[in-house]
Amino acid sequence: MTMLPHPTLTEHYGTAEEKPEFVNRLFDRAARHYDAVVGWGFLQSGASYRRWALKEHGLRPPHHLLDVACGTGLVAVEAATILGTAENITCLDPSEGMLEVARSKLAAHFILGRAEQLPLPDNSFDFLTMGYALRHVTSLDRTFHEYHRVLKPGGKLLILEITKPIGRVSGLFFRLYFRRIYPFLTLLFTRSHDARNMMRYYWETMDTCVRPDSVLKALSDAGLTQVKRNIVLGLFSEYTAIKAGLATA
Ligand SMILES: C[S@@+](CC[C@H](N)C(=O)[O-])C[C@H]1O[C@@H](n2cnc3c(N)ncnc32)[C@H](O)[C@@H]1O
Repeated sequence: MTMLPHPTLTEHYGTAEEKPEFVNRLFDRAARHYDAVVGWGFLQSGASYRRWALKEHGLRPPHHLLDVACGTGLVAVEAATILGTAENITCLDPSEGMLEVARSKLAAHFILGRAEQLPLPDNSFDFLTMGYALRHVTSLDRTFHEYHRVLKPGGKLLILEITKPIGRVSGLFFRLYFRRIYPFLTLLFTRSHDARNMMRYYWETMDTCVRPDSVLKALSDAGLTQVKRNIVLGLFSEYTAIKAGLATA
């Protein structure tokens, strides 16, 4: 049975089958605002945190990296500074609007595609990243089987996510900020209803997302090993896993 990252959000799209088109439209329309909105929304901490996480989890030259859901390239740009080049980076995303922004930033390989069906050969990458996009896939199990397939033996997976805190006070603050304040400020600063809608949807998917234990189980079920979750500031989840076998780089 397909494992959904969150239930069907019928306020936005009628059926689960309509979700990919809805999500694509959302990001296509808001792409030009994305970097600014996540910049001030996270107090300009995004670049240094992404770079720190990549280094901390072992990205290094001469790794071949696949960045799934690359969006505007925020993870890939930091990866390129670590690798010293973008030539071994492949960026994949289903939104042409987001890819267009990413292409203007780095000379990586760009592919229009989806995590659930990667148009890439088996055993191709030393490292695979996915930043803040797990909630957008249509099937966790299909996605993780694809990650297992395209990683080389010994290759590493790093998924960055935001997870709703479990504490009462932190949970209330999280809800207030992401449900009310962030979408409101997004509209105020960008004057774009598309950007505001993107941030509203962001909250709803975080609010309804499956809990971390289910993500960890789905990663193990896909055949990945050493499956772990590292929590940063009670808010950021770093899911890591390895494809069994001998590392080549
Ligand atoms: C919140 S953005 C994250 C972008 C970037 N990774 C970052 O760290 O800022 C989510 C991205 O996921 C992409 N996305 C949505 N559905 C996807 C899918 N099924 N497979 C891969 N990417 C998807 C969207 O197009 C969007 O660019």
